[in-house]
Amino acid sequence: MDKLVIFSGNSNKKLAEDICKYLKKPLGKILVSRFSDGEIQVQIEENVRGKDVFIIQSTSHPVNENLMELLIILDALKRASAQRITAVIPYFGYARQDRKDQPRVPITAKLVANLLTVAGASRVLTLDLHAGQVQGFFDIPLDHLYAINVFFNYFSKKNIENLAIVSPDVGGIKMARAYAKKFGADLAIVDKRRNTPTSTEVMHILGDVKDKNVILVDDIISTGSSLVEAAKALRQAGAKKIYAAVTHGVLSCDAVEKLENSFIDLLVITNSIHLSKEKQSKKIEVVSVGKLFAEAIKRIHFEKSISVLFDGIRR
Ligand code: R5P
Repeated sequence: MDKLVIFSGNSNKKLAEDICKYLKKPLGKILVSRFSDGEIQVQIEENVRGKDVFIIQSTSHPVNENLMELLIILDALKRASAQRITAVIPYFGYARQDRKDQPRVPITAKLVANLLTVAGASRVLTLDLHAGQVQGFFDIPLDHLYAINVFFNYFSKKNIENLAIVSPDVGGIKMARAYAKKFGADLAIVDKRRNTPTSTEVMHILGDVKDKNVILVDDIISTGSSLVEAAKALRQAGAKKIYAAVTHGVLSCDAVEKLENSFIDLLVITNSIHLSKEKQSKKIEVVSVGKLFAEAIKRIHFEKSISVLFDGIRR
């Protein structure tokens, strides 16, 4: 493990520390600060020549600051002669703009993939990408982890009976199907229409949720509109307890307030994005993906397969 070094940007130091704890390694010494005019100042404060380096940084809010930090750290590591640099991006922002769904719009997921590669990433390790196909935007190896087992362990302890897994939109069917299979539960789908980037409307529910306890599963909760509207429709259709398991707690705008006034009993998110104090709520629980990332990093370092971490889950 001597050649393995882990650094962190400022986006999610707590998760980086968790990962290091599992790996029994100290965090690498790095200065990530700001010059007086706001430009990002980075200095790697230890020798990384010939090392297998992992830099942990989610490109979450403030997304442009965190992304730029990551790019500049990659550049510094490359110029410091690290042998291999893995960008560990627990939450990969800008992924939702992954195709031209309207005229004259960018494909930011591809742009960010290009930026990471040019900056110096040799490979990428990430979690529950918004769309699996984003993997193909990278011409460097990418390992894609899933939070499903972390959520399964959490909810299994609750011994929820008469359970249905619900996808809050048609795009999430594959993910929900994998969860339904894992939990041995029924599957239902909410047919959602997005009216604006911050508001959604439920058209139908496909599947039976009457008298069932449900877990809504999704990759992202941003404004919370999708989940809150889905929960309302589920309650109208007779669902009892309504839980949500969402990998990335983006929680933008008034998402927490919306959640608190919603039919959702409990939202469980991972720590792929640091949950700030202001966003904490009795209705939000956080499960850690620290061990999952630590295990993946160890396996990548020792050139071992990481598919055992997926437990046969493919989406
Ligand atoms: C959509 O395709 C995603 O899976 C999420 O459902 C969506 O990004 C959530 O956004 P919001 O919380 O703003 O409704």
